[in-house]
Amino acid sequence: MPVFFQHQINETTRVGIWKIEEPESYFQRNVPVHRDVTHPHKRLQHLAGRFLLQYLFPDFPYELITIADTRKPFIPDERYHFSISHCGDYAAAIVSSTNRVGIDIEIPVDKLERIRHKFLKPEEEQRFPALQSENHLIFLTQLWSAKEAVFKWYGLGKVDFREHMPLFPGTSPNHLKCEFALSNQAVDIETRDLSGIVLSFTT
Ligand SMILES: CC(C)(COP(=O)(O)OP(=O)(O)OC[C@H]1O[C@@H](n2cnc3c(N)ncnc32)[C@H](O)[C@@H]1OP(=O)(O)O)[C@@H](O)C(=O)NCCC(=O)NCCS
Repeated sequence: MPVFFQHQINETTRVGIWKIEEPESYFQRNVPVHRDVTHPHKRLQHLAGRFLLQYLFPDFPYELITIADTRKPFIPDERYHFSISHCGDYAAAIVSSTNRVGIDIEIPVDKLERIRHKFLKPEEEQRFPALQSENHLIFLTQLWSAKEAVFKWYGLGKVDFREHMPLFPGTSPNHLKCEFALSNQAVDIETRDLSGIVLSFTT
């Protein structure tokens, strides 16, 4: 079954994850415009991400997608805001007709431990006691993925994950808050562990 996860956040915003089981030709039939990607699996991921945009909103205008200098894809007239992520055999997208959005999916891997100090401040380590538990890799991945989602939501690049994106617990286990220093905004992040895939998104 190709759609692994789908969620209508509200009337204007939808999110989905596709488990890629199809050949490139399946996606190419529906995605008329896409950039050249040399590596075959990365190309498949890229196509699946683009495919999801119109899957979520059938009138999504592929032909208007523009790539910023930061490499963020966007629609200039802001008819839709969107964000894409891929990991392994999964592609994810969030699309909104009203809100700036950001999304990230990750498969938890031990090597994240090695860069933990680069994206978390000691204060954040203390704020989230779950990080000290023996079985904390999924939660650590959720914090990383939350910051990647905020990075994409912001879209202008040049963000220091450790200094500019302090995270705070939210109102439920699936909710985090980020006090994003570069624009002085409080950003809400939804984050979930979906049987081995960590998904985070901001709206
Ligand atoms: C751009 C970046 C977010 C991509 O993340 P990734 O995990 O490599 O890849 P993902 O699959 O999650 O996301 C890729 C998609 O993000 C989107 N994207 C690329 N650059 C973007 C940007 N600057 N802003 C928003 N979205 C961007 C694109 O849609 C891309 O997919 P596509 O080219 O197929 O359309 C990442 O490479 C990056 O630069 N992260 C910040 C690095 C950093 O400062 N780290 C600090 C470590 S302590």
